[in-house]
Amino acid sequence: MAVPLEIVILAAGQGKRMYSDRPKVLHELAGRPLLAHVLATARALKPAAIHVVYGHGGEAVRAANPELGITWVHQAEQQGTGHAVAQAMPGVANESTVLVLYGDVPLIRPQTLKKLLSAAGTGLALLTTELPHPGPYGRILRNAAGQVTRIVESKDATPDEAKVREVNTGFLAVPAGKLKKWLSRLKNHNAQGEYYLTDIISIAVAEKVTIITRLPGDIAEILGVNSKAELAQVERMYQKQQTEKLMQQGVTLRDPARLDVRGELTCGRDVVIDVNVIFEGKVRLGDRVQVGPNNVIRDSTVGSGTVILPNCVIEETDIGADCRIGPFARLRPETHLAAHVHVGNFVEVKKSDVAEGSKMNHLSYIGDTSIGRNVNIGAGTITCNYDGANKHRTIIGDNVFVGSNTALVAPVTVGEDATIGAGSVISKDAPAGELTLTRAPQTTKPGWKRPVKKAKK
Ligand code: UD1
Ligand code: CA
Repeated sequence: MAVPLEIVILAAGQGKRMYSDRPKVLHELAGRPLLAHVLATARALKPAAIHVVYGHGGEAVRAANPELGITWVHQAEQQGTGHAVAQAMPGVANESTVLVLYGDVPLIRPQTLKKLLSAAGTGLALLTTELPHPGPYGRILRNAAGQVTRIVESKDATPDEAKVREVNTGFLAVPAGKLKKWLSRLKNHNAQGEYYLTDIISIAVAEKVTIITRLPGDIAEILGVNSKAELAQVERMYQKQQTEKLMQQGVTLRDPARLDVRGELTCGRDVVIDVNVIFEGKVRLGDRVQVGPNNVIRDSTVGSGTVILPNCVIEETDIGADCRIGPFARLRPETHLAAHVHVGNFVEVKKSDVAEGSKMNHLSYIGDTSIGRNVNIGAGTITCNYDGANKHRTIIGDNVFVGSNTALVAPVTVGEDATIGAGSVISKDAPAGELTLTRAPQTTKPGWKRPVKKAKK
């Protein structure tokens, strides 16, 4: 039987250098907390258990990650990485393999961790890499035969040790039974007065356990976030990975550096995306969709051939094929547009269904409305859906023509083929096929003169 995998994620650090009241692991990368990225990677490995060691900002960290299947372990005082891992050990089975991840190192990939795990076996596997400027990282020390003998933290390193460029990324995989034993022997006699997880290396070596090392696929994977500058740097790297994937799949990006994917973007063939576009949540773009500059699109689907002109905000909306949206359109949640619908300049649509071929091109608010096929909504039409206490629906049949500057006072129904005269306030149902208008007849007062200012005395 395969050895069960249990993952321990260290997430108790405060993140002093973030200068923030928020716990570090809740700062967002691509719209999701750092910890959520690490949890997603952990889940991809299908472990038997995930243990998250949390401390600073305690309950907020738990509340932000309400998924089931996480064992939360509280580390009241941050006494070092070894102490942190030890807190999780009572919940870990001796026969498991433990993989240690970090809540603030979000770009680690499942395939790299799989490599590390298959190297571990009954020994200890470390993910290491060479850095030209190893800075604050722990240094990997090897003997003449090239075997790892121990890790020295940079603050404890002699000048010679500090010159070593092979560093500890922090990721390691180790059999749980041995780990428990080694952790119990840690001391905090070092520069930081902490229980170092890295000290298990020399203990393992003394027990003749071989230390195996593996490399990450790329340097971004091991970058930790300690400051806002590093957060921004990791964000750029993440976005670069997203845009490279999209271009690989054939999406045309006018400038891959000016696009943000904060969620999951799926694109059909021959999609073109202009600059300064933000995708949030789950967004699906069909074939030949064109997204103009400065659009924000969240949790929506866009049918094939649809063009989204500049400066739209689109949330939780299904847009059919061959529609034309914007410029400056606002589509709000629970909106469904069928094919060949036009929503134009300064039009807001909320919780409405619009059937094929209907158009609302200028200055409208359409809320809680069902619109039939081939309807023309004139400029400035407003559905008055709110009476101050409750929301009501407006129903507009097929082939209706609503004249400009009409107020439709819901609940109200406009029958199919009806025409509404411009400037009307429609508060009762308008019959099918007829012209309805509420305008006062136009009159002319012959000979009427404008008032003139009285002469000053
Ligand atoms: C650690 C390693 C170092 C490695 C580096 C890679 C040790 C002793 N050193 O150093 O060899 O090069 O990571 O980034 O392990 N944490 C807790 N509880 C604690 C202490 C830390 O949860 O009591 C968490 C932190 O929130 C952080 C992670 O563990 O996510 C690493 O802690 P940190 O203090 O940043 O370790 P480094 O000193 O960077
Ligand atoms: Ca430290």
